[in-house]
Amino acid sequence: MAIRSIAKMGHPVLRKVATPVEDPSDPEITRLAQDMQDTIEDVGAAGIAAPQVYVSKRVVVFRVLASRIPPGVKLDPIPWTTMINPVVTPLTETKALIWERCLSLPGLHGKVPRYTHVKVSYTTPERKDQVIDCKDWLAMLLQHEVDHLDGYLYPMRMTDLSLLAFNSDPGALAEEARRTPDLDPALRNLVNAWPTREKWVG
Ligand code: NI
Repeated sequence: MAIRSIAKMGHPVLRKVATPVEDPSDPEITRLAQDMQDTIEDVGAAGIAAPQVYVSKRVVVFRVLASRIPPGVKLDPIPWTTMINPVVTPLTETKALIWERCLSLPGLHGKVPRYTHVKVSYTTPERKDQVIDCKDWLAMLLQHEVDHLDGYLYPMRMTDLSLLAFNSDPGALAEEARRTPDLDPALRNLVNAWPTREKWVG
């Protein structure tokens, strides 16, 4: 059990295409997944991909806490899940813009176009093949994590870079927080903690 350090944008490991895992039940992979879980728990995040802890292998670990599910999103909490060699397949051509953050880009958030409905196929550490059907927020989370395995960070998926901002000045996000209740609670907290808000909103 160990908390690992997190690679930041600019480090070459984040731009590499990660290697498929040959043996999902390899104890080394189990240990890696456990460390990724500890690392997520330490920072209070939802998911992480192995390249973010400097391991260029196709492993994603995530969980969905009840407290993180946006209002209006029909989704049950999901316990810790290790995805080995995950593959995302879009089930719609529709994309929607959704706010994201990333442990590898601390202090930033951006609004990213993502497919609203995907399936994700993966292998478990017990060598079981699984498929999950994901919509909206969960679909975004897993597209974001699997992108890490192909060397993509969320700004590389953005089509409007005016929506990339520092958490200390969440202008467009703050606007949206005012307009809609259906916002990822973590991003609403970010707006609520906006340190310079008095300068901008009366
Ligand atoms: Ni990320």
